Amino acid sequence: MKATAKYLAGIEGPSGYGSKSTAEQVTQDCLCSMQSHLTAIITGATSGIGAETARVLAKNGVRIIIPARDLIKAAEVKESIQNESPAAEIILLEMDLSSFASIQKFCSDFLSLGLPLHILINNAGKYSHRLEYSEDKIEMTFATNYLGHFLLTEMLLGKMVETAAESGIQGRIINVSSVIHKWVKKEDFCFSKMLNPKSYNATQAYAQSKLANILHAKELARKLKAGNANVTVNALHPGIVNTGIIRDYKGFISDSICFMISKLLKSISQGAATTCYVALSPHMGVVSGNYFADCNESPCSVLANNEIEARKLWEQTRHTFTKRQLLKPLG
Ligand SMILES: NC(=O)c1ccc[n+]([C@@H]2O[C@H](COP(=O)([O-])OP(=O)(O)OC[C@H]3O[C@@H](n4cnc5c(N)ncnc54)[C@H](OP(=O)(O)O)[C@@H]3O)[C@@H](O)[C@H]2O)c1
Repeated sequence: MKATAKYLAGIEGPSGYGSKSTAEQVTQDCLCSMQSHLTAIITGATSGIGAETARVLAKNGVRIIIPARDLIKAAEVKESIQNESPAAEIILLEMDLSSFASIQKFCSDFLSLGLPLHILINNAGKYSHRLEYSEDKIEMTFATNYLGHFLLTEMLLGKMVETAAESGIQGRIINVSSVIHKWVKKEDFCFSKMLNPKSYNATQAYAQSKLANILHAKELARKLKAGNANVTVNALHPGIVNTGIIRDYKGFISDSICFMISKLLKSISQGAATTCYVALSPHMGVVSGNYFADCNESPCSVLANNEIEARKLWEQTRHTFTKRQLLKPLG
């Protein structure tokens, strides 16, 4: 109750920001402390929270790479950002996150540009109403939201670690998750069933993929710390924002719940604030493996904090990719 009142009133947390802070506000004091030109990859930047994140980062001088399955939509976002920030450098490359081959092709295209990589924002999201399979024969929501981002991160990690070592600038990976991860029960969180469910529940599949995003961030953070890499990884809930994904989801919930949700809605700029804060704030320090909401550290579910589950998910995921020869086994 106290948390809801704090949210509705927009009371600021220890970071100095709260639920009503906008992406522009949280980045105001960020880049003056950074001397170098940063490069960021933002998935799902063709609409909603990702497009706003790209706009605000570009306004702050960050070079933006947008991997998109729809290059026409991406070109419209690029044009609109450059209308506001004519000097913004925005590179569009094709990528369908639900296809392992497409992710491989994107990574090879990006790496061949010879650019550094400081920030990776795993933001794209899918809510699949029906049971659909990706071209790799994996349930579509899990393939897009979790496996696709896991593969993308693994393929770009070497470049991020190298950039951080060469530039002395901390690399940051951000997994955009959701508060809905709290709905997942341990007994339902089963890797083989998420790959290929016998019975499908769209909300469960979405919530499980968002829990997997947090577990991924936590296990990767442990591995990066153990390897002394100057790269952090955190997960976050952006808030409830009336974007494409919420419009998809609304078809599945009653009018009364819709009414309650409408009271909790953030604007797009408020929805992009936590991502921009975690991506750019100098006050983040070496915080890694944490979960954020409303621009502050926030508790996630007990299951999301379970180290054994995180390690198990990591190993099962790596095994899936090594079996398909998409990743090399770890030596
Ligand atoms: N909105 C909310 O209330 C809310 C709440 C909690 C968490 N989130 C999370 O916030 C993130 C951003 O969502 P949003 O609200 O901004 O939704 P959105 O407006 O629907 O944007 C989703 C983005 O993901 C992209 N995408 C989906 N499938 C893709 C694929 N196979 N390959 C490449 N890109 C793909 C979409 O690209 P196209 O343009 O090609 O469709 C779009 O750019 C998601 O991870 C979502 O789960 C949102």
